[in-house]
Amino acid sequence: MCVRDESIALSEMIPEEQKKVLDAWQTSARYWEKHRALITRMFAPLTSALVEEARITIGQDVLDIGGGSGEPSLTISSIVGPTGSVMYTDPVSGMVESAQAEASRQGRTNIHFKQCSADKLPFADRTFDAAVGRLSAMFFLDPATAMREVLRVTLDGGYVSFAVWGPKKANPFFSTITDVIDQFVEVSAEDPDAPDAFRFAAHGKLAGILEKAGAKDVIERQINFQIEAAISVEQFWQLRTEMSETLRGKMARLTPAQLPTVKQAVADAAQRYFLSGAMSFPAEALIVSGRKRSILVDTTHGSAPQPHGYHQ
Ligand SMILES: C[S@@+](CC[C@H](N)C(=O)[O-])C[C@H]1O[C@@H](n2cnc3c(N)ncnc32)[C@H](O)[C@@H]1O
Repeated sequence: MCVRDESIALSEMIPEEQKKVLDAWQTSARYWEKHRALITRMFAPLTSALVEEARITIGQDVLDIGGGSGEPSLTISSIVGPTGSVMYTDPVSGMVESAQAEASRQGRTNIHFKQCSADKLPFADRTFDAAVGRLSAMFFLDPATAMREVLRVTLDGGYVSFAVWGPKKANPFFSTITDVIDQFVEVSAEDPDAPDAFRFAAHGKLAGILEKAGAKDVIERQINFQIEAAISVEQFWQLRTEMSETLRGKMARLTPAQLPTVKQAVADAAQRYFLSGAMSFPAEALIVSGRKRSILVDTTHGSAPQPHGYHQ
């Protein structure tokens, strides 16, 4: 397997681009709050996989990076129990407020909240037993720095684990609407390194960054599952067009006359995923995990790790 040299492949994001990403998530926060129950249910298999891969257990102190409207922090808080704790982090204030409000509603007392970006974590070295990120790594401003930061704040030997989406074609939950709308609006060429749901869909891409950041025992596990919820096609349309900044942007470029045609075409394309009367989309994700070395390799001066297969 060929592991790309991310220092060359990743274009530096200028601050204006960083601001755009975080502003988009700030707008998304109210929709992620609105659809929180569905989001919790739909992506629960990813939380289970992260908990398993990061060996999360009772009494641990766990870091959640890019916790959004509250997951996997909320689930992990009940796994680690009162003798453990979760540190929820997200750089977007709307997300932090939403997650914090839900934790209060649920009476969780072992979750702490910090508004911060993955590439600048305000924690001392070797603070957490384990660290996880569910569907957030794709949006990190600088993934290489973020991975080094996550390893820095993890205890020696501790596990770090990230869930990212597999390829678009294996994830019709995303492509069903996008493929229809793209026939109606002008679409610019996609930058594979831009912050986007499928940025780390290629096998080995995030694993290579994690290994280069100094992690040992890096492994990539592909998981296939069903994204399920008791909702109609109409509710699916609303869910997706509200949650996704990309879709919100594309929708804004449709003319009022195009909208009913697009909705009908989506309903026709989506029908096969609603045959049982509820939504059930096949989905593919990667769980990329590694462990903190006792002494980090100096990746700036030392020799680069040899590429090898991570796939499990
Ligand atoms: C797709 S959401 C996932 C949220 C949640 N973990 C979940 O699975 O429901 C992506 C999250 O990544 C966060 N994010 C964006 N840029 C980030 C960064 N630089 N560092 C950490 N998190 C970031 C966003 O604010 C958003 O909450």
